[in-house]
Amino acid sequence: MKTYVVTGGTDGIGRAVALDRLARGDEVVVIGRDPAKAGSFLDAAASRGATERAHFVPADLSLVGEARRVVEEIGRRFDTIDALVLCARHYRSTRLVTAEGLEHNLALFYLSRFVLSYGLLDLLDRAERPVILNIAGPGSGTGEIRWDDLGGERGYHGAHALAQGGQLNDLLGIEFARRRPASRVRYVLLHPGAVRTGHSGEYDAEAAAQVEAMRATAQPVERALVPILDVLANPPAEPLAAIAMGRTLELTGPEFDADAARRLYDVTTRLLGSVAPAAPGVSAGRLRRLLDSPVYATVATVAPDGAPHQSVVWIGRDGDDVLFVIAVGSRKERNLRRDPRVSVLVCPPDQPYTYAAIHGTATLGTEGGHRLRDALAIKYTGRTYAEHNADAAARFGHLPVATVRVTPSKIVGRL
Ligand SMILES: NC(=O)c1ccc[n+]([C@@H]2O[C@H](COP(=O)([O-])OP(=O)(O)OC[C@H]3O[C@@H](n4cnc5c(N)ncnc54)[C@H](OP(=O)(O)O)[C@@H]3O)[C@@H](O)[C@H]2O)c1
Repeated sequence: MKTYVVTGGTDGIGRAVALDRLARGDEVVVIGRDPAKAGSFLDAAASRGATERAHFVPADLSLVGEARRVVEEIGRRFDTIDALVLCARHYRSTRLVTAEGLEHNLALFYLSRFVLSYGLLDLLDRAERPVILNIAGPGSGTGEIRWDDLGGERGYHGAHALAQGGQLNDLLGIEFARRRPASRVRYVLLHPGAVRTGHSGEYDAEAAAQVEAMRATAQPVERALVPILDVLANPPAEPLAAIAMGRTLELTGPEFDADAARRLYDVTTRLLGSVAPAAPGVSAGRLRRLLDSPVYATVATVAPDGAPHQSVVWIGRDGDDVLFVIAVGSRKERNLRRDPRVSVLVCPPDQPYTYAAIHGTATLGTEGGHRLRDALAIKYTGRTYAEHNADAAARFGHLPVATVRVTPSKIVGRL
């Protein structure tokens, strides 16, 4: 049995995907706001004999805090996710700023997809053929990203906000695939074409008339479902794919520009960092998930004169212990042999205002260092140490390395 998470699963395309999966015997978690729509979805699930396999998580995904809570809740309730299907959106003719100070469309259509894509990655990575299906409008080439005014403070139009949100999602896919070379998760950007759905939104007269006109010729949900179900059944071999109305797109052109994608990632993490940082304290589950992700860690040791010494390392986890490797004879190794006190700091790259500092004692080992280094290279780069850095491997690969096991005595931070 597979597990699907579907945002916007209470209506339109998302609901149809959710019910299809339930009919196939899978488990589905649907996220939405409206209790009446949720009730109708759960009734439909019950009538298919799927009460036990249908779940509803209420959340207003226009709030970053809510998107983060959803990540938390799903992380607590499930070990593995096979697919994340992103469908939530809500059109607004009039600009609205959320309680967190973000423009509503930007927050719902783009930021929530960013938070969920990165936040659920570790659960997805445990599945056999995991896929994130971001249903928006890839390659539509309309709109333009207003880098200095993403939230439309200096001029807002609902159609532009939606088009810009679609472009931001394209760039999200590009950067996601680039950042996670070792991940098995496939990212698929999919444009279903015009579909007759609920078209969730608050429309002025002009926009309402346009939607009505579009609905007259739009395809029914059942037809739009075909390429979507295809992707879920057969995720692509490549880390990233863009499909518009059943046609696979070339990942070229400004919509898929790698530099813009990196820039957007930086802008996004800054934006997310400014929103409701986590309360003090470290959640054990969140910390384990962070340590299992390819997060870079800063290790602090004590130098002979008592001064702090820091360096950045790849890390692994064994239970609550943190593992890494060091070159025998390096400053770190000499420091730790003399004084095993150590501190390891990890900070999720997409939430720079959160972190955990793990203070503890290091135990150095001489066995299995090269094996652990290869395992970490694969975790971080998708390749062995020699494949990843042939030059360094040729020059230093044969030199002895020690394993370091950090047993925590105290963990502090906000995570
Ligand atoms: N329909 C089309 O013609 C078309 C064309 C191109 C692309 N797409 C894309 O396809 C996807 C699905 O579209 P659709 O037309 O099927 O959608 P829809 O029928 O309008 O349904 C939107 C869904 O989003 C949820 N939602 C709205 N605001 C939310 C919020 N603040 N927090 C959480 N959930 C929220 C709604 O649930 P609640 O009311 O329960 O919150 C509903 O389940 C969208 O990403 C859209 O961009 C659609």
